[in-house]
Amino acid sequence: MNKFSWNNLPRPIICLAPMAGYTDSAYRQLVKEIAPGVICFTEFTSTDGIKYGSKRTLKQVGFNPDIERPIIAQIFGKKPESFAIAAAALEEMGVDAIDINMGCPAKKIVSSDHGSALLKNPDLAAKIVETTVKATSLPVSIKTRLGTKDKDAKFLIDYCKRMESAGAQLITLHGRTAAQMYTGEADFELIYEVKKHVKVPVIGNGDITSIESAKEKLGNLDGLMVGRATMGNPWIMAELWHAFHDDTTSPDYKPYTSPKSFHDRLPTLIRHMELSVETKGENRGVMEMRKYLAASIKGFPGASEYRQKLVRVETLKEAVTLLKEIDKLS
Ligand SMILES: Cc1cc2nc3c(=O)[nH]c(=O)nc-3n(C[C@H](O)[C@H](O)[C@H](O)COP(=O)(O)O)c2cc1C
Repeated sequence: MNKFSWNNLPRPIICLAPMAGYTDSAYRQLVKEIAPGVICFTEFTSTDGIKYGSKRTLKQVGFNPDIERPIIAQIFGKKPESFAIAAAALEEMGVDAIDINMGCPAKKIVSSDHGSALLKNPDLAAKIVETTVKATSLPVSIKTRLGTKDKDAKFLIDYCKRMESAGAQLITLHGRTAAQMYTGEADFELIYEVKKHVKVPVIGNGDITSIESAKEKLGNLDGLMVGRATMGNPWIMAELWHAFHDDTTSPDYKPYTSPKSFHDRLPTLIRHMELSVETKGENRGVMEMRKYLAASIKGFPGASEYRQKLVRVETLKEAVTLLKEIDKLS
């Protein structure tokens, strides 16, 4: 098997963002079935959780090697030695690359000096990258934000150059500061600036919601990463992939069109549920799908009555029967 390298991927690289609570193995498999060229990141996973062999953590990094490859495992923490142990364990599990979370702004994460707190401590961040790179033969990358509070081009460029010197082989930047959380608009200008100052590929992330916004934002970057816009609309990943990678001059060219009606989207929703049940068992698999089921009928006449029923379904069969009933009425 050829070793994964960020440098060998066709440009632009199109990535599914890591999203804790959403981009689990079932969701990633669904996206790969719709858009096989997309690169998937796991939800962020605790290095200490992997180090101490927490069953829940190890389950969380589980993936389907036949469908999800290349799979990028994202990890978070603050102790370089825990990153080393986690990276070696993940390599053993067969992931294709390791991504270090340096961007999570959530209070719980930052207050324990994880995630975007690393932006305040470039020495520790560089040590973490160096230690991880030494512990694995896999490519190591980082994902971060524009800064903690202020957008400071010099700081950000120096920070990214330092991570590159420490061995990071790819940098993903979400165009917001940590203080912004998810407010305001993602700003790509500083991301373009960083790209001019590093040799490694740079991926831009934030507020990509359509082919138009993706084309507008790509600029000089090597790729784009999309998160929230895929919720309830995984087909956007195929739209983006085809928009950038299809040969429109080929005689076989057919434009990709994603399903729009509930009826046409239903098979994918059912497939998502099947994958969820396959990966988590019927109880948990169906329970975790309830949020998707309820969201799928947003705006329908009589939606609230069906939503009440959908958020209570317990089996795959029950959910499919109810969805088909809704489909007949829609
Ligand atoms: C529910 C949720 C969970 C997230 N979990 C992670 C995570 O585990 N790791 C990470 O690096 N970013 C995480 N993010 C941030 C996304 O990867 C992405 O950077 C952010 O949503 C901006 O991209 P978007 O505008 O395309 O959604 C999360 C975002 C959301 C909304």
